[in-house]
Amino acid sequence: MAISFSISHITLITFFYLLILSSSSSSATTTALNITSILSSFQNLTSFSSLLCSTSVASDLTRRDPITLLAVPNSYLSISPSSDLTRRLPPSSLGDILRYHILLQYFSWTDLLKIPPSGVLVTTLLQTTGRAHSNFGAVNITRNPLTNSITIQSPAPYSPSNATVLSLIKTLPYNITILAVNSLLVPYDFNLMASDTRPPLGLNITKTLIDGHNFNVAASMLFASGVVDEFEADEGGAGITLFVPTDVAFGDLPGNVQLQSLPADKKSVVLKFHVLHSYYPLGSLESIVNPVQPTLATEDNGAGSFTLNISRVNGSLAIDTGIVQASVTQTVFDQNPVAIFGVSKVLLPREIFGKASAGITTKPGNGVAVATVQPPETSPSPVNAPGSSDPASNLSSPSGFHEEIKSDSERYQLQSCIVALCCIGFYVVL
Ligand SMILES: *[C@@H]1O[C@H](CO)[C@@H](O)[C@H](O)[C@H]1NC(C)=O
Ligand SMILES: *[C@@H]1O[C@H](CO)[C@@H](O)[C@H](O)[C@H]1NC(C)=O
Ligand SMILES: *[C@@H]1O[C@H](CO)[C@@H](O)[C@H](O)[C@H]1NC(C)=O
Ligand SMILES: *[C@@H]1O[C@H](CO)[C@@H](O)[C@H](O)[C@H]1NC(C)=O
Ligand SMILES: *[C@@H]1O[C@H](CO)[C@@H](O)[C@H](O)[C@H]1NC(C)=O
Ligand SMILES: *[C@@H]1O[C@H](CO)[C@@H](O)[C@H](O)[C@H]1NC(C)=O
Ligand SMILES: *[C@@H]1O[C@H](CO)[C@@H](O)[C@H](O)[C@H]1NC(C)=O
Ligand SMILES: *[C@@H]1O[C@H](CO)[C@@H](O)[C@H](O)[C@H]1NC(C)=O
Ligand SMILES: *[C@@H]1O[C@H](CO)[C@@H](O)[C@H](O)[C@H]1NC(C)=O
Repeated sequence: MAISFSISHITLITFFYLLILSSSSSSATTTALNITSILSSFQNLTSFSSLLCSTSVASDLTRRDPITLLAVPNSYLSISPSSDLTRRLPPSSLGDILRYHILLQYFSWTDLLKIPPSGVLVTTLLQTTGRAHSNFGAVNITRNPLTNSITIQSPAPYSPSNATVLSLIKTLPYNITILAVNSLLVPYDFNLMASDTRPPLGLNITKTLIDGHNFNVAASMLFASGVVDEFEADEGGAGITLFVPTDVAFGDLPGNVQLQSLPADKKSVVLKFHVLHSYYPLGSLESIVNPVQPTLATEDNGAGSFTLNISRVNGSLAIDTGIVQASVTQTVFDQNPVAIFGVSKVLLPREIFGKASAGITTKPGNGVAVATVQPPETSPSPVNAPGSSDPASNLSSPSGFHEEIKSDSERYQLQSCIVALCCIGFYVVL
């Protein structure tokens, strides 16, 4: 019942997608996602699209991919319970409800059909605002193995709100998938009247760091490179989280790591590697669902590169770059939408220091994790493969990761061929 989804429909969409794909070949341009213009070609999503615009959630999305958007078609948005919400809620609360419909992971239809009956937890844009308690900004996606019906609800037990996937509207591998669902989802324990409207913070990050006393090297590097202006501009939207190494951390850098002599563009990549493009208070970081987080450097270099692995080690927060493990030592500043944490080590991206650091020797008691993995070089391929829905992806072995992606895309091509053949058959039948 739930999946009113005929094979011809999937094959047609895939077929058209293949046509587009083959005509534009693989030379993807680096245009930001414009969700409004993507949705504008669907007559049955006009109300949902205008909600995204009126709550300014659409603009949060321009620098966010990969995502899966759960869109409620007009016919479902106009009936209860969805209509009650859109009528009753102030735009600020409605904005957070809509953020709950933006999954920060790309799912192809095949990925969805691989979801186990026990479900998968997926972080949404709401989790990144810090306004959801615990992991209630994540959704639990489950699949009924008998009907293949896919249901989405809060991970909270007995959560009353759920939505069922109606159909796949559009997919642009590996950036965005739009699924039609039959209802707006309400996050569990969500304060429907809370407001996300806030005056601009206008925080001077350089000054905040200098006032923190321990962070003079970082403050001067950020200031000199000019990236601090970019960070301050990001205080709007979903906010930012900075991990700032202490002065001692800069002093402890191994002799073969010459940060200051890096060319300016590399230096700014290293600095951006210390920043998450969302506001995460300490509690959210501690309960982070997906440990591997993209940084601002990921946005410039492609999905899957320049990620940080954030986890709890020995009761404190550890940040692992693959070649360095730092711990969060203090909260320097925390006020929505900006969080600044002191960290015990300079976060060296393995994409830049992977080879140079093969010789890094650990000073006693420092606990520097030295990895012998080869750097993945700067891979232009979109590395956010559908297979990454597997929480056990071993990102610290880039070569294996790339193999997994390759096999995934090969599988995708094979499936596409089969689908295209089916499609031709379908036309012949017609
Ligand atoms: C899709 O993702 C790839 C790699 O992440 C990127 O190069 C491309 O610009 C993206 N396309 C769109 C339309 O955002
Ligand atoms: C997205 O496209 C719409 C028209 O399709 C346009 O009005 C809007 O300004 C665009 N938004 C951005 C952020 O480019
Ligand atoms: C919405 O419209 C698109 C075509 O514009 C169609 O493929 C899709 O099935 C429709 N979805 C629903 C739920 O009505
Ligand atoms: C997701 O839902 C399924 C089915 O209700 C449940 O068995 C599973 O424990 C849930 N997972 C999480 C993490 O809440
Ligand atoms: C989803 O919600 C509907 C209506 O509130 C309810 O009848 C149904 O049992 C729920 N399904 C699940 C899996 O919780
Ligand atoms: C921020 O503070 C620093 C140090 O106090 C100062 O040099 C800089 O001009 C300030 N920036 C702005 C935009 O006020
Ligand atoms: C992330 O780091 C933790 C602690 O260092 C480690 O246990 C975990 O396996 C790492 N995960 C990934 C995906 O690298
Ligand atoms: C965790 O604790 C163990 C034992 O106390 C210690 O050997 C290890 O270095 C600690 N790890 C970190 C990352 O602090
Ligand atoms: C990743 O894989 C490598 C080799 O397959 C293994 O040695 C390493 O322990 C794995 N790391 C994690 C974090 O699972």
